[in-house]
Amino acid sequence: AAGHHVLVRGQVLHYLSDPGPGDDPTAWEFFDDGALWIIDGRIHAAGPWAAIQANMPPAVREGADFHDYRDHLVLPGLVDTHIHYPQAGVIGSFGRQLLDWLNDYTFPAERRFADYSVAEQTAAYVVDRLLAHGTTTASVFATVHAHSVDAFFRVAEAKKLRMLCGKVLMDRNCPDTLQDTAESGRADSLALIERWHAKGRLGYTLTPRFAPTSTREQLQATGELFAARPDLHLQTHLAENPAEIEWVKSLFPERASYLDVYAHHGLLGPRSIYGHCIHLSDAERRQMAATGAAAAFCPTSNFFLGSGAFDYAASSAAGMRVGLASDVGGGTGFSLIRTLGQAYEASQIHHTPLSAMRGWYLATLGGARALYLDDRIGSFQPGREADFTVLDWTATPELAWRMDSTRTLAERLFALMILGDERCVRGTYVLGEKTWPGGLGV
Ligand code: GUN
Ligand code: ZN
Repeated sequence: AAGHHVLVRGQVLHYLSDPGPGDDPTAWEFFDDGALWIIDGRIHAAGPWAAIQANMPPAVREGADFHDYRDHLVLPGLVDTHIHYPQAGVIGSFGRQLLDWLNDYTFPAERRFADYSVAEQTAAYVVDRLLAHGTTTASVFATVHAHSVDAFFRVAEAKKLRMLCGKVLMDRNCPDTLQDTAESGRADSLALIERWHAKGRLGYTLTPRFAPTSTREQLQATGELFAARPDLHLQTHLAENPAEIEWVKSLFPERASYLDVYAHHGLLGPRSIYGHCIHLSDAERRQMAATGAAAAFCPTSNFFLGSGAFDYAASSAAGMRVGLASDVGGGTGFSLIRTLGQAYEASQIHHTPLSAMRGWYLATLGGARALYLDDRIGSFQPGREADFTVLDWTATPELAWRMDSTRTLAERLFALMILGDERCVRGTYVLGEKTWPGGLGV
């Protein structure tokens, strides 16, 4: 009975693979009266309560930390594949599309991060909000200021979270006070990698904001670093908005497409995650799939900024890795449950309705696969890190009333994805320990 044992009883759902458009039932496991047995922060076993009980020596059962969530849904921690933590204060800024919204709201907000204390306070706030919404891993944009990454990673490290974050690289077409240079951006990134990468559960992600705000020199230097360090991630934005796409064409007339700007400079490959990917051809989708790049599907942001509707069915059919994302502060909140509801609405625009069985895959294992972290998080297979969230099916009167007339798991999960939100989150666990709700402070 060595080690620290945690036993959780609840309705356990997790995925082993993508259920695909046909809801392949071998893609998930659901234990209606189920359990997780966790040893030292890792999943030892997930299964029916009775079977887990039968395998557990009485002395272990006596000493285990027990959490009873019968009639609640126990899911792997949600994975947010694209979020800007410095934009938490501009969520819900009226009436602009992408480029004006960046100039009018986003850049001024990011300028305030020149002050380390702003970064520190915002990082603590955002990490607390992520956990309150059931999110345990995210791919996070900081600002151009190197210390904005220090602030975020300090909080994530204290909470033992698996997080990716990087300093924004931008050396043109933005306010002077937010610009780095190809050389300083590279040097700052290298110093941050040295300081934080692979420290505990943290990973560094190279973060050129998007093609318009980097010179060819900066993109090239970033591509060289990415090639030299296959253990790093890379994140940026792609094909979000028509005016943005036109701008990229005028800035890079020598390149065949927006995607080709990234491919040419060595930014396209496994562990690269591109936000949005709305306005792509099928050939571009296949190019992303073939190179192992992933798309972050950000429906609340895409509707809020009037960018368009990402075609999840076409993207996954092309073989692309896709994860779900809040894209705060273009996105309207931290909740990946609400985001799933809007992912469904985006899918309806393309006449390919997203099923609940696939939706919850997207929010968990799909995100982990998009980030190439599925060997560590995203499911309850033995050995995985025990990050999970507990959802109340009947957290609101509307949910309770609706659940009363559901008959199948798929119906219940669908109602939850449309009517659910952060009010459903009863607890969020990191490495088997209850981390939210917690005490005061970070
Ligand atoms: N494209 C470049 N920067 C941004 C950003 O901060 N948010 C969104 N949604 N798109 C971007
Ligand atoms: Zn973004």
